[in-house]
Amino acid sequence: MFSSIKLSEFDSPQALVVAKFSDSPIDVYVKKFEDAAAIIAASARTECSGDLGKIAEAYPLREGGPTRIIIVGLGKKDKFKAADMRTAMAAVARRIAVTRDVKVTLAVSGPLSEVKADLETAGRGAGEAFGLLGWDSKQFKGKKAREDDKRVALELTADKKSFRNGIEFGLALAESTNYARTLSETPPNIATPQFIADLAKKMAKQLGLSCTVMDEKTLEKEEMVGHINVGKASENKPRMIRLAYTPEVVKKGKEKPVVLIGKTMTYDTGGLSLKVNNGMVGMKRDKDGGCAVLAAMHAIATVIKPKRPVVAILCSAENSISDEAYRPDDVLTYRNGVTVEITNTDAEGRLVLADGLIWACEKENPAYIVDLATLTGGVVVALGSTFCGMFCEDDTLRGKIEAAAAASGERVWRLPMHDEYRDMMKSPIADILNSNPNRKAHPVQGAAFLSYFVKPEVPWCHLDIAGVHASESDSGMFVKGPTGWGTRLLADLLSGE
Ligand code: BES
Ligand code: MN
Ligand code: ZN
Repeated sequence: MFSSIKLSEFDSPQALVVAKFSDSPIDVYVKKFEDAAAIIAASARTECSGDLGKIAEAYPLREGGPTRIIIVGLGKKDKFKAADMRTAMAAVARRIAVTRDVKVTLAVSGPLSEVKADLETAGRGAGEAFGLLGWDSKQFKGKKAREDDKRVALELTADKKSFRNGIEFGLALAESTNYARTLSETPPNIATPQFIADLAKKMAKQLGLSCTVMDEKTLEKEEMVGHINVGKASENKPRMIRLAYTPEVVKKGKEKPVVLIGKTMTYDTGGLSLKVNNGMVGMKRDKDGGCAVLAAMHAIATVIKPKRPVVAILCSAENSISDEAYRPDDVLTYRNGVTVEITNTDAEGRLVLADGLIWACEKENPAYIVDLATLTGGVVVALGSTFCGMFCEDDTLRGKIEAAAAASGERVWRLPMHDEYRDMMKSPIADILNSNPNRKAHPVQGAAFLSYFVKPEVPWCHLDIAGVHASESDSGMFVKGPTGWGTRLLADLLSGE
C-alpha cells in the first residue's frame, strides 16, 4: 500500500491523527491543539463513536494546517490494551493509503497516557500496522499493473519520543515479517529449495550471519533421509540450510544457542498419496515455517541482537511425484537409528523436520528448540486462524513462548502431548509410522512423531502454523495472503535472550 515508510520529523503534516475512547469525550486531549474546535465538532457526529478501529474525519480548513484530521476510536477506556493500537492504526493506515497523504502525525499520546498505556508498546503497534499494510502484495502482477500501482512514500511522526521509538521498532519488525511474506508469495516454479538457499546466503552475507547449505550429495552423506526421500521425485533437489547468528559478546550462561527449525516445503502435492480436489492449491505456502524462521533471523540480526547465539535450520524440499518418488510402504532409517514406515507420503513435513531435529540435538547443543511448520490441516479444523497450535512440555520454555505470543499478538494455544499419542505412532514393521490411518488427532500425531527425534533433555516447542500462516481475507493489519506468522513471535522470544 505504501512504496516506503519512514519515521521522520516535520511540523506541518497533511494528515493529523488523534484518538478517542468510546466512553469519554475527546475535548480534554485536544483542547490545546490549534484545530481543537474542528476536532470537537467532528467528534460530536454519530460516526465518531470511538469504537476500536472506527474512524471519522475533521477538515479544519486552516491556512497552513492539516488538510485532514483522522479521529480513530480506541474502544472502551478500561478495556484498552497497548496491543489494541494495532487494530486502531491498521484502520488509519488503510485510510491513509486511500487519501494518499504523505506526511502523517500521530498525536495520540494524550488518551494513551491517561490509561497508562506504555507509549513505546503502543508506538510499536502503530509501526507494525503501517509496516505490515505497506507490504507489496502485487509483486507478481505484470509490468502494466505494477506501473499503474502508484504507491506513496509515507512519512510518519508522533507527538512523543517514546511513541516514535516504538514506531521505529514496529516498522523494523514489519520489514522482517514482510520478507517472510514476500518469500511465501513467491511461486513454486521460482522458489525452489536452491532459490531459498541462495536467498539465505545473500541475507547472511548482508547481515553478517554464517550460512551453510547441504546439497543432495551432502544430505546423502549425512543420512538426512527425510530430505532425500521427500525430495526424491522433484528435479528441484532438497536442501538443508543452516544459518547462525553469533553475538559480539555472548552473555555468561547464554552460550548455548537457541535453535529455530522451519518446515520449508516449496510445494506439497502430497506425493504419491496425492492431494485431491482443490487440496493442492495454496501449497506453495507449505514453506511458511521456514519463511518465518528466515525472517526472524533477519529481525534478530538487524534489531533484536540477542546476547545468545541463534541457529536456524530450514528443512527444504519439494514433495512431488514421479517414478522416483518415495512411496507408502517404504521404510526409512534415520541417522539417530529410528526407523519409519511410510503410510502416507502427504505427511512429509514431519519427515524433513525429523532430520533438522536430529541434527540440532546432535550437533548444536541447543538451549532449546522451536520448530514452526504448516504441518496439519487438522490444526486448522481445531483452532481456525485465531491461534497457532503449540506443543511444549517444558514449563519454562512454554512460559517464554506464551510471553512472546502476548507481546507479538501472535496467539498460541497449548495442545496435548501424551504417551498414548506416541504409542499411536508405533508401526508393526518399523519403529514408528509417519501417519496413523485411524485419522485421530492429526496435529497431535504430528507432534508425537516429531518427539521421537528430540533428545528428552532438550526443551522443545513445536508450533503448527497451518491455520495462521495466511489470511483468507483482507482485514486488520493484513491483506488476503501470507501473514509471516511467527516472525514477530520469534523476534520477541529472542529479545528476552
Ligand atoms: N502441508 C500439509 C498441511 C496443510 C494443510 C498446511 C492445509 C496448510 C493448509 C501437510 O503436509 C499435510 O498434507 N498434512 C496432512 C497430514 C496427514 C496426511 C497425516 C493433513 O493435514 O491432511
Ligand atoms: Mn503434505
Ligand atoms: Zn506439507
